[in-house]
Amino acid sequence: MFVISIPALQRNTAILRGVKEAADCRLVLALKGFACWKTFPYLREDLDGCCASGLWEARLARNHFQKHVLTYSPAYDEAEVAALCEFTQHLDFNSLSQWWRFRDQVLAHPRFRSGELLCGLRINPECSTGATPMYDPCAAGSRLGITAGQLAGADLTGISGLHFHTLCEQNSDALETTLAAVEEKFGHWLRLAQFTYLNMGGGHWITQPFYDRERLVRLVTQTRERYGVEVWLEPGEAVAINSGVLRARVMDVMESAGQRHAILSISATAHMPDVLEMPYRPDVFLVDATLPAAQPAAQPAVCFAGENYHLAGTSGPWLYRLGGPTCLAGDVLGEFAFPRALRVGDTLVFDDMAHYTMVKTTLFNGVKHPSIVLQHADGSLETLREFGYEDFKNRLA
Ligand SMILES: Cc1ncc(COP(=O)(O)O)c(C=O)c1O
Repeated sequence: MFVISIPALQRNTAILRGVKEAADCRLVLALKGFACWKTFPYLREDLDGCCASGLWEARLARNHFQKHVLTYSPAYDEAEVAALCEFTQHLDFNSLSQWWRFRDQVLAHPRFRSGELLCGLRINPECSTGATPMYDPCAAGSRLGITAGQLAGADLTGISGLHFHTLCEQNSDALETTLAAVEEKFGHWLRLAQFTYLNMGGGHWITQPFYDRERLVRLVTQTRERYGVEVWLEPGEAVAINSGVLRARVMDVMESAGQRHAILSISATAHMPDVLEMPYRPDVFLVDATLPAAQPAAQPAVCFAGENYHLAGTSGPWLYRLGGPTCLAGDVLGEFAFPRALRVGDTLVFDDMAHYTMVKTTLFNGVKHPSIVLQHADGSLETLREFGYEDFKNRLA
């Protein structure tokens, strides 16, 4: 099961609120990273709303967060634009061809005429600062955003915002580098009176202990003052980082050509695809109260009273390749060393599994989908949803 800690989420949103108040900017939750909508009542007070990747996320934001909705998608169709014009506050377009296609439809809408709906363009400052090409929207030939060269000389009547999203799990030094590129390539646009907002996207690791928040506040303040625009930040990961775990059961242990395997009730490909896509090695804990207590610092994001957690290492006598219950040969979470032999029925806890996990799960192979549980401040657990055969069947027709 996925277990999400409400106090841990609120620890993050309190930090984010502090930043936005100090920088006098707006900050929304990126639903693409975390969209467990039954937690929204606990987040709503600290944040300004949500950013959506399209109509469905925008509807979730409007119906359940009930604050600002900012929408950006690489491409919209007519029906989506018509529906979004009814309630989104920002509608940002990825290309000039998309904007030109929908411009008349949007400009004629009463909400645009009254100023309730503002339109923006995603720009590509062509400034790569990240380490992972898969997460680099500034790579040469990227389909995400408009370059300064493409924008030169364009008629931008009706546009009042620019939007960039170029970071991924980065500190504010990368934002500083990016803002210098934005100033050089797009500063002359932002200085025009028609521009009222700049959206700096997500990828800001604001709630990590080592993140330089003072520099973020300084950069946002400088940007606001330089261009006279409202600044928006839209982190996903920073809202939900270190707030959830995925608990798994060991279903089988076996050996093949000297390699020890443990087959788990959860799958990398179906439940934690970023482990394979990014890729990265998650922290895993064995739950065992009979072993001597582990270091208190090495604890998962969500603990249960009476449980004792042992962080798996990289080498040792009890080294297992942890795999999922699907047919994919590569449905493997990595090799992890435990303080004793694993047994069928053992519980393993995968740490930091709230963001970019629950939003990406699939029912591949008809594997049982983990239930979704909240942990409240008093330690009590609330099961929000359990999944069954009907959920699997209904996805397919
Ligand atoms: C346009 C946009 N905004 C915000 C985000 C959220 O980024 P993160 O969860 O890394 O903060 C993303 C992530 O891909 C994005 O594409």
